[in-house]
Amino acid sequence: MAGIRVVVGAVVLLSMLLGLSHAACPGSPNTLPIFDDEPKHVRSVENGKLFSIDHGNGKSMRILHVYGTPYQMGKAQGEIFTKEIYDMITAFSGYIDSQIEPYIKWLPKEIQEIILKDGPQAALQFEVDLTRKYIPQHFFDELKGIADGMNGTMSYDEILQFHLFPELIKASCSMFGAWGPALANTSDTLNQLRALDWGIDNPLINYSVVVVYHPNDGNGHAFASLTWTGFIGSITAYGGHTAVSEKVWLSYNETYARAGIPFHFLMRDIAQYDRTLSDALNRVYNNRRTCSIHLGVGSRHDQQFRAVEYGHEEVLVYDDLNYPTYLPAHPQMDGLVFINKHVQPSHDTCMGSLMQKHYGNLTAETTIRNVLGNTQSGDMHAAVYNFEKNHMYVSVAGPKVTSSGDVESTVTPAYARPWFKLDMTKLFAQQQ
Ligand SMILES: *[C@@H]1O[C@H](CO)[C@@H](O)[C@H](O)[C@H]1NC(C)=O
Ligand SMILES: *[C@@H]1O[C@H](CO)[C@@H](O)[C@H](O)[C@H]1NC(C)=O
Ligand SMILES: *[C@@H]1O[C@H](CO)[C@@H](O)[C@H](O)[C@H]1NC(C)=O
Ligand SMILES: *[C@@H]1O[C@H](CO)[C@@H](O)[C@H](O)[C@H]1NC(C)=O
Ligand SMILES: *[C@@H]1O[C@H](CO)[C@@H](O)[C@H](O)[C@H]1NC(C)=O
Repeated sequence: MAGIRVVVGAVVLLSMLLGLSHAACPGSPNTLPIFDDEPKHVRSVENGKLFSIDHGNGKSMRILHVYGTPYQMGKAQGEIFTKEIYDMITAFSGYIDSQIEPYIKWLPKEIQEIILKDGPQAALQFEVDLTRKYIPQHFFDELKGIADGMNGTMSYDEILQFHLFPELIKASCSMFGAWGPALANTSDTLNQLRALDWGIDNPLINYSVVVVYHPNDGNGHAFASLTWTGFIGSITAYGGHTAVSEKVWLSYNETYARAGIPFHFLMRDIAQYDRTLSDALNRVYNNRRTCSIHLGVGSRHDQQFRAVEYGHEEVLVYDDLNYPTYLPAHPQMDGLVFINKHVQPSHDTCMGSLMQKHYGNLTAETTIRNVLGNTQSGDMHAAVYNFEKNHMYVSVAGPKVTSSGDVESTVTPAYARPWFKLDMTKLFAQQQ
């Protein structure tokens, strides 16, 4: 209780300094359902089982369980989603071709030149060649499994090239991790938010899936990745022990390396293999990093979250005390690290004001209802992790759902759509 009282004092002090002005936020609360029913079995293949939480068109979420060796897990996904993976990669290649232009200036010079001369596909192959020797073998085995599972519908090379796209497209996302005094119930050890803002004109929005991996003993632990059919990197993943979030770091002004491990593979390895913040940070320090991102990592054992500025040259790790504080946009609050969706350091006050308003009650539900909807962050997909209860909440962009439950054709961002609450204790225990 003493801790809580101290925190209340701190909030009062901050409120006086800031005059309690809740900055204008662009959005409004999300009052749509958070579906929490049991996923229903849809179909199975060897080493793969597809489930769905299905409330009708525009209100459903697929959950794929895969089991076994990396190759077997890939093959199961390739068989279950042959058509989806083919359609998605085909549509996405067209999208990159048409969208890359305005973002070229953010890319390293040599990539800009390849794109202008030979197109984005050639740039992706260039990335493959440079990163190949830094990518752990299990990823190649899984991709080979996907290609074989698709039975020749798409080549291994095309599927591999597709996995280098995150380095080529824009991203702006927000994240926060809240623990201890920032939560209502301090036995809720840690909540972590990640919200991915990649644009809802992106064809990937039609291919969202939660893949629950059940690797063989000795190859990490079960974890879930909110991803797209056939994409085996993780941008958003929850492993029970650790969870990861990512945001592009546009103000980065140091050098890039093209040779290194693509960040979404490193992020997935954190979710699959790491148990503590130290494990995850050691992985970040000791791998050869390529581009710059803001990485969010939380750990159930540590009951804390770190925001990491992850660059080729250096790694800067931030907690609730050392994150640069500047008023009014970024007040210091014990047990809370947040980064809004804008280029950092950002002076936009919306997220900071919401963090203050809900400080002490940053539950998953408050985050979904009163933070994300208001900040309008998390357009393509969004997830909130509650480590204590072992729940993962997810939402993806899709058709607009009205407050009366009707579905309209307008595509609406994840933050303004119904959510799904997944009981990860049950999902991780799902038998083959
Ligand atoms: C795989 O493709 C071959 C050649 O197109 C076809 O004969 C075979 O039936 C396919 N197998 C499956 C499992 O679809
Ligand atoms: C706090 O969380 C614990 C564990 O989830 C639960 O048993 C307890 O009822 C919660 N207390 C309140 C006041 O919500
Ligand atoms: C998603 O699928 C719908 C229905 O097939 C289609 O109308 C829409 O154009 C697709 N969205 C994108 C961004 O490709
Ligand atoms: C990079 O940015 C930092 C922080 O904004 C600044 O201190 C530094 O001087 C910049 N370095 C270069 C080479 O521009
Ligand atoms: C805390 O959040 C819950 C929903 O997550 C809400 O029902 C409750 O009213 C909030 N309490 C306060 C004091 O804001």
